[in-house]
Amino acid sequence: MPDLDTIVSLCKRRGFIFPGSEIYGGLANSWDYGPLGHLLKQNIKKAWWKFFVQEREDMVPLDSAIIMNPKVWEASGHLENFSDELAECKECHHRFRVDHLLEAKGLEPKYDKEPSKLPAKIKCPDCDGTLTEPKAFNLMFKTFIGTTEDGASAAYLRPETAGGMFVNFKNILTVTRRKLPFGIAQIGKCFRNEITPGNFIFRTREFEIGEFEYFINPNEWEKVFEMWLGEIKRWWKDIMRVNMDNLVWHEIPDGERAHYSKRTVDIEYKYPFGTKELHGIAYRTDFDLSRHEKVSGQDLKYTDPETGEKFLPHVIEPTFGIDRMLLVSLLEAYHEEEAPTAEEGETDKRVVMKFPKWLAPIQVAILPLSKKEELAKIAKPLAAELRRDFSVDYDETQSIGKRYRRQDEIGTPYCLTVDFDSLEDKKVTVRDRDTMKQERVAIKEVKDYLKEKFNQ
Ligand code: GAP
Repeated sequence: MPDLDTIVSLCKRRGFIFPGSEIYGGLANSWDYGPLGHLLKQNIKKAWWKFFVQEREDMVPLDSAIIMNPKVWEASGHLENFSDELAECKECHHRFRVDHLLEAKGLEPKYDKEPSKLPAKIKCPDCDGTLTEPKAFNLMFKTFIGTTEDGASAAYLRPETAGGMFVNFKNILTVTRRKLPFGIAQIGKCFRNEITPGNFIFRTREFEIGEFEYFINPNEWEKVFEMWLGEIKRWWKDIMRVNMDNLVWHEIPDGERAHYSKRTVDIEYKYPFGTKELHGIAYRTDFDLSRHEKVSGQDLKYTDPETGEKFLPHVIEPTFGIDRMLLVSLLEAYHEEEAPTAEEGETDKRVVMKFPKWLAPIQVAILPLSKKEELAKIAKPLAAELRRDFSVDYDETQSIGKRYRRQDEIGTPYCLTVDFDSLEDKKVTVRDRDTMKQERVAIKEVKDYLKEKFNQ
C-alpha cells in the first residue's frame, strides 16, 4: 500500500484534490476536489445510490436541510452529548483529543458521562508542556439566523444527515404509504468542528455522508441487521472491489456502544496511518423516534395495517463517509510496476491507478498521434460521439508514451490512438490500461466495443 504522502502528491499533481484556499496560504485540513476528484466522488455517490437505493424496492430518497430547527439537535442528544473531551497545553496552547492522548500511551479511553482523568505523565505531544484537565467540547458548528446574534437565533450546521430523516418520517409515511420495513436514504454535506482533523481527507471539518435509516418492527432486528451486513460486504467486494483483507469488521462490545444501541459494527480499514473507522452500522432501537416524539409533542407511531398494532418503529442505520470511501478507492487503486518503454527492451516504473472501470474519473482518452489537422478531423468527431456515453479526455500534446503514462496515472481504462493508418483503414488503436495490450478496432464499432468492455 502506498504511503499517504504519495497519494496526497498524486492528487495535487493530477487534479484529484487540492489544498483548500491555496492562493491565500491554505486553510488547515480543508481540501477542494479538483476536476478528477469531483468525477471520482460523483461516481462513488452514483454507485452507492444505485446499489443501496435505486435498485431496491424498500428505499425512498430524501434531501433535507442542513440548517434545521435547533430542537432537532436537542432531541437527538447532539446539543448535550456530541462532544469530544479535549486537553489544552498550558505552554503552546495546542489542543488534543483526550482519547487520542490515552490511546497513544496504550491506555483505554472511557466513553462515559464522567470526565476523564489524564495521568500526569501524559504531556503535550508537541512541546512536552503540562496539559489542562479534560474538558468537553461540542463539535457542532454554531451559527445565527438573521441579523441578531443572540440565543434565540442560534442554529447549527448539521453534524450528520440522520436528523432530517427522522423528522420527515411521518411525512414520508403519509405520502408514500409505505409498510415496514422500509428505509429513507440521503447523501449530503455534514460539518463537525473536529479538534484534531488530519490524515488528508480522513478527518475534516466538512465532509459528506451517505446514510439511511431503515425502519423495522423490533422483532426482526437481528435478521435485518445481518441482511445489511451482507449487503455492505457485497458493496465492498463486488462493487468497490477492495481487497477484503484490508477491511476489519469490528463488533463494538457491550459498554463501548452508545447507550441506545443494541449492536454496532464499525467497518475499519487498514490505512497507511493505522487501522481506523471507515464507516459503520448500528441498531439504534427506537431511541431517535421516541426522543423526537417527546420533544416535538407529535405522534410518530406507525400502525401495522394487518394487526392494527400501533408502535414506534425501530431503526437500523448503515452510515458511510463518502470522503473516506474515496480515500480507500485511491489507496486500493494505486500500483507501481515496471513497464516497457518505447525503446526496444527498456522498461521504467509506471504508476497506474487500477480503479474498477466504472469508477475511473476518465473512462476513455482520445490521443491523436500528432496535432495534424487530418487526424483531428477523425479524432474530434469521435470524441464528441463518445462523450454522449462516456467521460472522455482529448489530449494531443507530448509524445504518445508520456500521454499513456499520464492516463495510467489517473486510471483511464482505455486510450484510443488515432494515427495516419486510421486515415486509410478507418480504425483506431485501443490500449487497455491494465494489460497494456493494443488492438485495432473499426471507428464505427468502437462505441459498442467500449460499452461491452465497461459492462464486463
Ligand atoms: N448518523 C451516524 C453517524 O453520523 P458517525 O460514525 O459519527 O455516524 C458517519 O459518522 C461516518 O461519517 C463515519 O463512519 C465516517 O465515515 C464519516 N465521518 C465522520 N466524521 C468525519 C470527519 N470528520 N471527516 C470525514 N469523515 C467523517
